[in-house]
Amino acid sequence: MSPAPSPAAAPARPAGHPGPAGPEAGFGVYVHVPFCLTRCSYCDFVTYTGMEGLRRPYAAALLLEAELAVAERLRPDPPVVTSVFVGGGTPTLLPPADLARLLDGLRGLLELAPDAEITVEANPETVDAPVAEGLARAGVTRVSLGAQSFEPGVLAALERPHDAHRIARAVGHLHAAGLRELNLDLIYGCPGEDAGSWTRTLRAALALGPVHLSAYALTIERATKFGRLVAAGRMRPPEDDVLADRYEAACALLGGAGLHHYEVSNWARGPVAASGLPAHASRHNLTYWRRGGYLGLGAGAHEFTGGERRWNVASVPEYLAAVRAGRRPTAGGERLEPAAAAFEHLALGLRTVEGLAPVRARALGVDPAGPAAAELRAAGLLAPGPRLALTEAGMLLHGEVVTRL
Ligand SMILES: C[S@@+](CC[C@H](N)C(=O)[O-])C[C@H]1O[C@@H](n2cnc3c(N)ncnc32)[C@H](O)[C@@H]1O
Ligand code: SF4
Repeated sequence: MSPAPSPAAAPARPAGHPGPAGPEAGFGVYVHVPFCLTRCSYCDFVTYTGMEGLRRPYAAALLLEAELAVAERLRPDPPVVTSVFVGGGTPTLLPPADLARLLDGLRGLLELAPDAEITVEANPETVDAPVAEGLARAGVTRVSLGAQSFEPGVLAALERPHDAHRIARAVGHLHAAGLRELNLDLIYGCPGEDAGSWTRTLRAALALGPVHLSAYALTIERATKFGRLVAAGRMRPPEDDVLADRYEAACALLGGAGLHHYEVSNWARGPVAASGLPAHASRHNLTYWRRGGYLGLGAGAHEFTGGERRWNVASVPEYLAAVRAGRRPTAGGERLEPAAAAFEHLALGLRTVEGLAPVRARALGVDPAGPAAAELRAAGLLAPGPRLALTEAGMLLHGEVVTRL
């Protein structure tokens, strides 16, 4: 995952926040692995095809950067790490032994909570039995697998190099290795998709028994194949009405199957805590939504520490050169103005069913019992009760509700 607070139904990406949240927000480490076998037609993440020769040196450099980052950003009193997320790109293109060395190195540098969540993103075509076993041996506790769709026509349009059978096989290998804390990513609003094929994809995903599902609305990014096709008038972007229909279909089907819709684009199995969050919610992403701090390692990675957001160079050779010279490969940074920070805080906090406690909402300048909130409650967009939290109908209109408040 990479920069900037996400639009309503787009992938959850790291974002800055106005100041250090309390320890209840957790503290994460995000590690970016910018290598892929092929480039999918919708994806603008920092990632490169080829570069086979740089993968292992890059894995070694990540640990060097971790040492520099801890010294620069977290001394003298490093927080306890509650989650590590190795994202991409395709982290499973690194040999599992390199991932194991990286995770061991992080454990040596930082205190990881005994129940720390350690997620690795994986692509179906890269997961066989040895990879799954290697991930489990490395101490990975959770895998996020990019399925996107189970329909041949949609997978072809997205230029995914796997079919539905390969997704099922990857899940089988992960389950056999004891990795049952599994998320599947899906995208809706894709070319070649209709209501029936989206429903079939949801059913096929559920049949594999994941404890977590992410369903993202297709966003058209300029610097992608889809972006170029749309700009040339050769492809139509997904219509809002269609996206709303697909979203509602996902809510009905996933909810009916017993998954809890805990964030705009995310569902997980329970049991549900008093906060409204299901047990299998992604703890790493919760830290982002609660505006907790996180370190960002790797080319193009973002981090948020001490109230400051910083990001690394995107180029792998530049990244390697900086780290080998003993410098952090920082490309830029910013500290948000209080008003912008408060708006971001509100927008992120309202993404999850946990929402914002009344005292927190008031600190951000929103009266949870004021006329705007009352009107949104009457319209069924905000949940009843003292907290400021969206209903499922409200999640679809997340941006509008935040602006209204
Ligand atoms: C950075 S990708 C890495 C996952 C992994 N490489 C894969 O493709 O399976 C994380 C997720 O973001 C989502 N994503 C990426 N670009 C998107 C876009 N333009 N619109 C909607 N979802 C997108 C996909 O669901 C993808 O699985
Ligand atoms: S969606 Fe995943 S596999 Fe496809 S280009 Fe992006 S990071 Fe790579």
